[in-house]
Amino acid sequence: MQICRSKTAIREALGGRRCEGVPIVLVPTMGFLHDGHLSLMRLARTRAGADGLVVASIFVNPTQFGPGEDLDSYPRDEDRDFALLQAEGVDAVFAPDVAGIYDPAAQTIVETTGLAHVLIGKLRPGHFRGVATVVTKLFNIIRPDAAVFGEKDYQQLAVIRTMVRDLDMGVEIIGGATAREADGLAMSSRNVRLSAADRAAAPVLARALDQAEAMAPSGITASRLRSHVRATLEAEPRAHVRSVDIRDAATLDTISGPLTRPAVILLAVSFGQVFLIDNRVIQPPQEKP
Ligand code: PAJ
Repeated sequence: MQICRSKTAIREALGGRRCEGVPIVLVPTMGFLHDGHLSLMRLARTRAGADGLVVASIFVNPTQFGPGEDLDSYPRDEDRDFALLQAEGVDAVFAPDVAGIYDPAAQTIVETTGLAHVLIGKLRPGHFRGVATVVTKLFNIIRPDAAVFGEKDYQQLAVIRTMVRDLDMGVEIIGGATAREADGLAMSSRNVRLSAADRAAAPVLARALDQAEAMAPSGITASRLRSHVRATLEAEPRAHVRSVDIRDAATLDTISGPLTRPAVILLAVSFGQVFLIDNRVIQPPQEKP
């Protein structure tokens, strides 16, 4: 596995193989890898095939963190990450420092003008602009045929798909299912920062989503479903509910009344300083024959 610290190094590492026409599949990450990230590496290998190249990037991107967010305390362990990626059969890792990515005189940004400002975009202003800009740069540096992102970050995946469509980026975007701990908590690099009591309370997100999924076949309206989910979360005193939304699963548009199309429930909940998100796509009730 090649470890590349600069744009030049990764371009050189991939260049020869690109000329041979083998698929290149990128998995962007901010490191401190867990099984969720590794499941995306496996999906990337499936797409790339045995002869193709799986490339991971590790870069804690400062432009997607707001003032007062956890950029400085974001967990890092590069040596462990490299060992995990090597064991997974990843071909190359791009792990630049900030100066290796951003020119100090940079003035170009990429923004999905609608999606960047709703839901998590409202809670974290500027976050999705930072994500879209860095992912564009990673695509331009690595020029992958396909890239894999987790469904755990549902809105992020929607932002990336929209940006690729709107700017004709020609990169196939593959979504990977959310990997969970045994008690249902969605895996996240931030979970290690939960106190023991908060870690014990955090599975309430998955429980609230399970309950909502079980209620959907009854024909319940979107707003009642949302109230149930919020009540379940608020019954957990350690949870600080930041947002609960039910949106059209395909467009993230607002919906009301009984569900007629697949919908997604999107949760954002803080435990102390730790910001957790989760989501579940739920199906509308089946029409009786
Ligand atoms: P990061 O949070 O490190 O996540 C990297 C990728 O792993 C993302 O596509 C994310 O959706 C996915 N992922 C996280 N938890 C997962 C889980 N439990 N199961 C499956 N996949 C999971 O998301 C980012 O980094 C950054 O915003 C990035 C896209 C790298 C841009 O900086």
